[in-house]
Amino acid sequence: MPRSKIEYIDSVEIKNKKVLLRVDFNVSLDASSAIADDTRIQQSLGTITHLLKNNNRLIIISHLGRPEGRDKTYSLQVVADKLQQYLPGHSVRLVNDFLTDLVVDKSSETGKASRKEYPKDQAADEVLLLENIRFYNEEKKNDPDFARKLASLAQVYVNDAFGVSHRTDASVVGIPQYLPSYGGLLLKREVEMIGHLLEQPKKPFVAIIGGAKIATKIALIGKLLELADYLLIGGGLANTFLAAQGYEVGKSFCEYERIEHARRLLFLAAQKNTAVILPSDVAVGDPKNTENASAIKRITELTKQDQILDLGPESQAKYGALISKAKTIVWNGPVGYFENPQYRRGTDFTYYAITENTEATSVVGGGDTLAAISKKEYLDKITHISTGGAAMLEFMEKGTLPGIEALSKIG
Ligand code: 3PG
Repeated sequence: MPRSKIEYIDSVEIKNKKVLLRVDFNVSLDASSAIADDTRIQQSLGTITHLLKNNNRLIIISHLGRPEGRDKTYSLQVVADKLQQYLPGHSVRLVNDFLTDLVVDKSSETGKASRKEYPKDQAADEVLLLENIRFYNEEKKNDPDFARKLASLAQVYVNDAFGVSHRTDASVVGIPQYLPSYGGLLLKREVEMIGHLLEQPKKPFVAIIGGAKIATKIALIGKLLELADYLLIGGGLANTFLAAQGYEVGKSFCEYERIEHARRLLFLAAQKNTAVILPSDVAVGDPKNTENASAIKRITELTKQDQILDLGPESQAKYGALISKAKTIVWNGPVGYFENPQYRRGTDFTYYAITENTEATSVVGGGDTLAAISKKEYLDKITHISTGGAAMLEFMEKGTLPGIEALSKIG
């Protein structure tokens, strides 16, 4: 697979420059709008400290959520506060509106800046974080004028936002049109680790794909059928495959309109010699009931009243045995209805099985995969935890992303 040639910040000298750094600080917030998980902030610290050590002044750009216009609920203030804790030697300042606070208006009649001039405004020890870039409608439209205004703030652009590099937003693909542009250290790690899975996976290669909807995973499954020896399917996704094989799935979540597609994937798997493993037993019950234990049933025994919510013990053992023999593992998506702790066992078991196999290269990622695990001990036993959800899926499928292409020097 051709890999775009991009330069990373550790192979070029970026010193004493104004640097516009795009990160993905789209962290999950709890009910009181506090940060529930700051992994994405932590993962970008390597790039931030690398650039700061070389006396660069940073202007950081991120989005948070999907606000429609300026909406305080999605302010990056909580992120600025957290970042401040990680950068005690610097002062982190949230810039409410970079257009009025930072951009120099060169078209003023006197020919001088009519607004506060940058970088006079940024103290040497200051790190600027622009307020949620999605507060501006131009961001999603990749408005060239908007991208140019952002670019005018700095001399160099760095993309460390793997998680949003599948988007064609102004701060992802627009700015690199106007500035010398490089990849950050997190982007480098993501590209190398996931790229390694695609290019030279050691065998056996076991892929575990969960989550609810087949529609979002079809392309990935098609790709994995070419690479993996075993494809273990769980979550709501498995129900559609079970129905495609003619099993009764009762009241379970199932995308009936995709059954034909699931059949085609099973046929393709047979051609590619990839074993698709589906649950042979399952936990059934009421998704809303968090008190009573679920019932375990064989897949052949389900009635029209049953609702599949997790892998059964036999399926867990089968999946676990295959994971333990793997040399390469990729896991994307919870394998049960983890929102109810009664149905989290399969997902926890999958996690422990992966962390037990320290011989394998393991890559875990995708939206709520890690959020689904009840105890996050042994995370260090996983070779790479991707910060990308949809970005990871698209990168696995295509081997590149628009944000990476935008940095490319040679196609
Ligand atoms: C993510 O969380 O997957 C990224 O931050 C991208 O967010 P988006 O799907 O809202 O573009």
